[in-house]
Amino acid sequence: MIPIANPDITEKDKQAVLKVLESGMLASGPEVKKFEEEFAAFVGADYGIATSSGTTALDTAVQICGLKAGDRVITTPFTFIASCNSLLFNSVKPVFADIDYTTFNLDPVKVREILEKDPEIKGMLPVHLFGQSANMTELMELAEEYNLIVIEDAAQAHGASHCGRRAGSFGQAGIFSFYPTKNMTTGEGGMLVTSDANTARRARKTINHGRAGDYQHEVLGYNFRSTDLAAALGRQQLSRLEDDNEKRRENARYLTDKLKELDWLEVPEERPENYHVYHQYTVRLRPLNLENHEKAQDYNELKNCFAKVERCRDQLVEHLKEWGVGCGIYYPLPAHKQPLYRKRGYDRYSCPRAETAASQVLSLPVHPALSQSDLEKIVKAVSCFSKKFLR
Ligand SMILES: Cc1ncc(COP(=O)(O)O)c(C=O)c1O
Repeated sequence: MIPIANPDITEKDKQAVLKVLESGMLASGPEVKKFEEEFAAFVGADYGIATSSGTTALDTAVQICGLKAGDRVITTPFTFIASCNSLLFNSVKPVFADIDYTTFNLDPVKVREILEKDPEIKGMLPVHLFGQSANMTELMELAEEYNLIVIEDAAQAHGASHCGRRAGSFGQAGIFSFYPTKNMTTGEGGMLVTSDANTARRARKTINHGRAGDYQHEVLGYNFRSTDLAAALGRQQLSRLEDDNEKRRENARYLTDKLKELDWLEVPEERPENYHVYHQYTVRLRPLNLENHEKAQDYNELKNCFAKVERCRDQLVEHLKEWGVGCGIYYPLPAHKQPLYRKRGYDRYSCPRAETAASQVLSLPVHPALSQSDLEKIVKAVSCFSKKFLR
């Protein structure tokens, strides 16, 4: 089976971790410090604070960037649930805006519509999904106009850029995840980056029991720290990240070249101002003979229109499995339709593009470990999926 993700652990990675094991310094020490400096420099930020996961980096950012309980923050519903859970954990209310069709990320037009109606909104949490940056030029213009605190969820966008600037470096804080499926990994792990000294100081305290000096606890904090074991692995992975991202891009180009003519499928698009790092290579199943979905008035109507597409997608997943090709559906249900969010009344938001994307998307393997014959097999398997299923 060609896996959808394949963490790349080299002999050098193992040696770096072994060296830490033999040093006796297993907690947060010199490796963490170097990893923080190197990663922040890579992103183009002044400070990096390594954490135990992307989720804890995000939770820390939401806590310390100046948001208060009850504040409202605009975000995307088409993401992994941790993005908006970080708001709920801090009693901040997500306001869901619909996504851009091409990038799957927050649509600045929709964000503006919401801000015009609700100018008291305090923040914005854009996500750079699948390795492609959101339109940070327009989103940052809106943030300036409406005085918004911006926290970027770049958990899937290590090395991605927009207009030559790296994802994670636009807002007051940006966060990354080093979970094993990501473009680089430390096992579990995350990083908060910022160029604001005060934000960095507060983040550092919050992830370390609110500690200012030796057993001086100034604010309520957690243990969200990273370890030298994770950091040693992270430093090695970071040193290969740009080459690995280039390999992902090459693989994506190959897949797009071979799959773009299929009339039942839409290949991912890279916007010209973006450098896409293809954390995922995500295609859409195009609904053939389905003209009325644009007129659908509500979620249930839309769901019926797209139920057929979902059934075809299930068949495609099965078909790929038979061919030995792994795939993934990221994400089958937008956040505002998740049971937790429904219970809290968030399904009142209407985000038809996010809702239809959830029915259409399918991610194919694109990771750097794919061989030429793997790529050929993926193309063959997808191409021979009978389009009759889609009619
Ligand atoms: C968009 C997004 N945000 C946040 C996270 C949370 O990161 P972690 O799994 O490292 O806690 C993830 C992880 O998959 C993610 O994809």
